[in-house]
Amino acid sequence: MMKKIKILATGGTIAGKAASSTQLTGYTAGAYSVDDLLASVPALGELAQISGEQLCNIDSSSITDALLLRLAQRCNELLAQEDVDGVVITHGTDTMEETAFFLNLTVKSDKPVVLVGAMRPATAVSADGPLNIINAVKTAVCAESAGQGVLVVMNDEIYGGRDVMKTNTANVATFKAPNGGALGCIVGGEVRYYYRSVRPHTLAAEFAISKVTALPRVDIIYAHIGQDRVLVDAACAAGARGLVYAGSGMGSIHGAVEAALAEAVQSGVVVVRSSRTGSGRVSAGLARWQEQGFLYADNLNPQKARLLLQLALLQTHERSEVQELLLRY
Ligand code: SIN
Repeated sequence: MMKKIKILATGGTIAGKAASSTQLTGYTAGAYSVDDLLASVPALGELAQISGEQLCNIDSSSITDALLLRLAQRCNELLAQEDVDGVVITHGTDTMEETAFFLNLTVKSDKPVVLVGAMRPATAVSADGPLNIINAVKTAVCAESAGQGVLVVMNDEIYGGRDVMKTNTANVATFKAPNGGALGCIVGGEVRYYYRSVRPHTLAAEFAISKVTALPRVDIIYAHIGQDRVLVDAACAAGARGLVYAGSGMGSIHGAVEAALAEAVQSGVVVVRSSRTGSGRVSAGLARWQEQGFLYADNLNPQKARLLLQLALLQTHERSEVQELLLRY
């Protein structure tokens, strides 16, 4: 019997439309509906019983916290249904790594959840969307995908939601897991796994969002030469409950900003050091930073550390507990 897979469409380049087949930039993302998408890849019907649902149809760079919550809640509703064996989410690639990590922490099911997108619009010559969605559905119906956490399937590779990252603006091989690698691949039409994430996710994660209507405000402050404290003060004035400092190197803090971050901690804001380098671990660092109460993001990039901090702040503002969550997930 064929498995029943729900395609939850959110927009992105996979549903993008350009003026000509050679236009690969400057097109409109989220132009085609889920029905258009499914009709354009009839081979999906040979892999599973497919049904589509349109959650939104937007460029993923404009996804809000509210939409992220709605997506997680809808996934949980669908996965609780006996007639849904897995969910494939079509999504823009720009923020796919954020949605994948958030769902990895908030989906309450071990049924497969796979995010997929495209780097070239649906109208492009050599569009990558159709094969990507075929590979995503193959991954969703594969028995081995159950319990792997939320997955991203792009360019014949399968990544874990915690570690996947978009690393290139245009290349179809943009998705990587810079601190590890892909969990598996789809080659010759076959889904093969080689690795598994050891960090807790989905059923083993403690975050409950079914009744949550808003996430705490957490801003990212990006380190650079010539920085001053203006953005830290502005974020605090805007009501940030947490700040992720995308520091240079191993989470280093500009000398002109440190006092502002220390004052933020004193006023109850949770400050987490991450790194702008794109890979590697940030550790506790200088004794002075620890004394000032700055936490550290392990090897989560700033945008992923932000999401985990938002979920952590739903349950605690105790710094040692937040640090424990940052290290556990
Ligand atoms: C988007 O993220 O929605 C646009 C870019 C893409 O999907 O590749």
